[in-house]
Amino acid sequence: MAEVVILPSAVSAGELGAEFVARLVADRPDAVLGLATGSTPLPLWTALAARDLDLSRVRGFALDEYIGLPAGHPQSYRTVITREAVEPLGLTAALVHVPGDDGGPVEGAGARYEAAIAATGGVDLQVLGIGRTGHIGFNEPGSSLASATRVKTLTEQTRLDNARFFDSLDDVPRHCLTQGLGTILRARHLLLFAFGDSKAAAIAGAVEGPVSSSLPGSAIQLHPLVTVIVDEAAASQLQHADYYRFAWDNRLDFER
Ligand code: F6R
Repeated sequence: MAEVVILPSAVSAGELGAEFVARLVADRPDAVLGLATGSTPLPLWTALAARDLDLSRVRGFALDEYIGLPAGHPQSYRTVITREAVEPLGLTAALVHVPGDDGGPVEGAGARYEAAIAATGGVDLQVLGIGRTGHIGFNEPGSSLASATRVKTLTEQTRLDNARFFDSLDDVPRHCLTQGLGTILRARHLLLFAFGDSKAAAIAGAVEGPVSSSLPGSAIQLHPLVTVIVDEAAASQLQHADYYRFAWDNRLDFER
């Protein structure tokens, strides 16, 4: 079962997440991080930047990238990762990869990305957000639980949700490259964050619902080491919230 940690704010969630990253990097300075984009990881990046760690040897793999945006577009995930994570955290840009950024054709980009991840020995810690459709990465409903990095078509819900980053809905790409659910499940530790009411149903489905490709986030239930860090609003539809709080408050010394 995922460990579910319910915290009062996104800021405290970011601080706890930063503790997981800091411990990993202390142990392994060239750790491999899986990087999410969007609003959700921002408190984590802020908390990590405040720790002023040496992350220059850390390797990174973004979850996904839009197809069709020109290089350097402010909302391409290469640009977003550079602006929001690489620069503030002191990551080394050449060690951080985004699907499709190897200069090759889109056809085959998924297999090449899988090979690049495998060549590092795999992702140690995968940071995840979740969409209102239940997607992790851009694995929209119907995605195979064993899927690898590939091209996906975004749902209209996801395009609407992401339109806030663009001038208009028409500017939001319809396609993306995304790590698959199988790719995500190969990471050694999953760290899923969610904040706000709009994520409550997706979080309840991911943590407590049946495992189903109809709610791709539920794939986390197949993984042996998952930490779900949510605020009260995102936790509001969890049936076993009291138990999760009790388990976290009473965790054993070696788990702290
Ligand atoms: C982003 C990603 C997506 C987002 C999700 C939530 O790289 O893979 O799964 O995590 O769409 O987006 P925000 O955080 O903007 O609500």
